[in-house]
Amino acid sequence: MTSPTDFNDRMLSLGLARVAEQAAIASADWIGRGNEKAADQAAVNAMRQQLNKLDIEGVVVIGEGERDEAPMLYIGEEVGSGTGPGVDIALDPLEGTTLTAKDMPNALTVIAMGPRGSMLHAPDVYMDKLAVGPGFPEGIVTLDMSPATRVSALASAKGCLPSDVTVCILERPRHEEMIEEVRNTGAGIRLITDGDVAGVMHCAEPEVTGIDMYMGSGGAPEGVLAAAALKCMGGQIYGRLQFRNEDEKSRAAKAGITDLHKIYSRDELVTADVIFAATGVTSGSLLPGIKREVGWLTTETLLMRSKTGSVRRMTYRNPTT
Ligand code: FBP
Repeated sequence: MTSPTDFNDRMLSLGLARVAEQAAIASADWIGRGNEKAADQAAVNAMRQQLNKLDIEGVVVIGEGERDEAPMLYIGEEVGSGTGPGVDIALDPLEGTTLTAKDMPNALTVIAMGPRGSMLHAPDVYMDKLAVGPGFPEGIVTLDMSPATRVSALASAKGCLPSDVTVCILERPRHEEMIEEVRNTGAGIRLITDGDVAGVMHCAEPEVTGIDMYMGSGGAPEGVLAAAALKCMGGQIYGRLQFRNEDEKSRAAKAGITDLHKIYSRDELVTADVIFAATGVTSGSLLPGIKREVGWLTTETLLMRSKTGSVRRMTYRNPTT
């Protein structure tokens, strides 16, 4: 028997899909309009409104930022109707604000939910990330390996040549050396301009996306969201927080993190079973984007539960009038 205060992931998952859908629909008018802020704000408002309809005692642990910098969906904000299970929520109402503003691929709305204490309270700093898909022995690639060694280790495990491996990396000046080293192995690189939650998720379905491995640094909050996705889809992710100054270290201290050099595995980033929903905003290799027809908007949402490994793809046709 489940009590109304248990984390009933089965019942809550459909509600979570609605939250992701509505955030995407709200951002639809801002696709390709060159206004990142407005697109993000529309998604934030809608996500918050929908979350508050769910019968949960929710706390945002990964959100839009610290309370003093984000008026809505800030870290620590309580969401939900206030009746029901206590849950932790990690969210990014619009992952890829620039992708949305420029109508470039793979912008998503993303949200994960789990019981209290199930997700690392990652501060808003960078995280060095490394991810591969399911089916490989744990630790087949590690953050301590050089980029070239990671490629050859993965190629041996797959039984292929380094030139058969494709790595996804965020295109940033800080990654130039890494990119050169990976290219020198013969491996291919898919450079992305933004959106490393999707970047990591690509590794879980290499036959669909053509991506075998993700590496490089990006937002730590996005690292937790990506770990939640891989906990459902299968695959490994490792993350190590990176600090550029004392202020960033104090953000970690505030979040209760004492070991600043720790390498977190997927199951340390997300320690219990979670549910995860992502809706495509702009089309990409994981999800189609929002489709507009006169009088209708159609979205596709990926809804997953780590407990069962279930992956649903849900199409939602929504009248706009
Ligand atoms: P936003 O959606 O907040 O713009 O973030 C996009 C993103 O590309 C993330 O996916 C990634 O983790 C981070 O920004 C990388 O940060 P930076 O642009 O500073 O390299």
